[in-house]
Amino acid sequence: MMRKKIVAGNWKMNNDLAQTETLLSEIKTQWNKEPQARVIVAPAFTNLYSAFKALRETPIEVAAQNMHQSDSGAFTGEISAAMLKSIGVNTVILGHSERRSHFGETDAVLAEKVETAMKNEMEVIFCVGEELEDRQQGNEFDVIKAQLEKGLFNIKKESWGNVIIAYEPVWAIGTGETASPEQAQDMHAFIRKTVAGSFGEEIADSVSILYGGSVKPGNAKEIFAKEDVDGGLIGGASLKAEDFMAIVQAI
Ligand code: 13P
Repeated sequence: MMRKKIVAGNWKMNNDLAQTETLLSEIKTQWNKEPQARVIVAPAFTNLYSAFKALRETPIEVAAQNMHQSDSGAFTGEISAAMLKSIGVNTVILGHSERRSHFGETDAVLAEKVETAMKNEMEVIFCVGEELEDRQQGNEFDVIKAQLEKGLFNIKKESWGNVIIAYEPVWAIGTGETASPEQAQDMHAFIRKTVAGSFGEEIADSVSILYGGSVKPGNAKEIFAKEDVDGGLIGGASLKAEDFMAIVQAI
């Protein structure tokens, strides 16, 4: 079982062009020890191409935070898979809870986006996560299972090489509150079991499952130490080179 370790920074709607260039050059400067993980950053759309150019000679990869499900057409304000690929971006985050809650992205829409990504041979970081209320009512496993089955599981077996799953409990995002390492491990093991149930053990064993939600330099190590946690999707702490690199080195 050789799953890839991954640390990805989701910059959300932060950093203009100059700030993007500064942060990336700081990350490059602090890149000392070769990390035992793939490292990915996801700047805003307007800064993806400059990020791609800045990182092209480095092992650091660039991902988009979203994309549209259609190939092209009358979708004002949207970005297609082909547009991303044309600037060297082959990875996209889909189903982030902020996309689901603020922009009405449903499981059905996400299934279409995933299908489009697979058709274009893009890699997807597919996010799932329960709300606080779900957990208080003891429904967290059912919620995650439904998000996986409806949004992600329509893909073909062959496509799993292009899938990364991120578990991001909504109550832990930007709140300073993390899932405990045990809560993360329990859910990651459940996600892996759910993948195995539909696609078999081999695929389940090889898919990387990242934890996201208030990961910081101070808590990354104990979360990453859990068997089924293969890395992190980092929000706030990915905006400071020092913190992000400390988390990368915690792997
Ligand atoms: P924070 O690390 O700021 O809690 O955000 C997590 C997240 O949403 C990453 O996608």
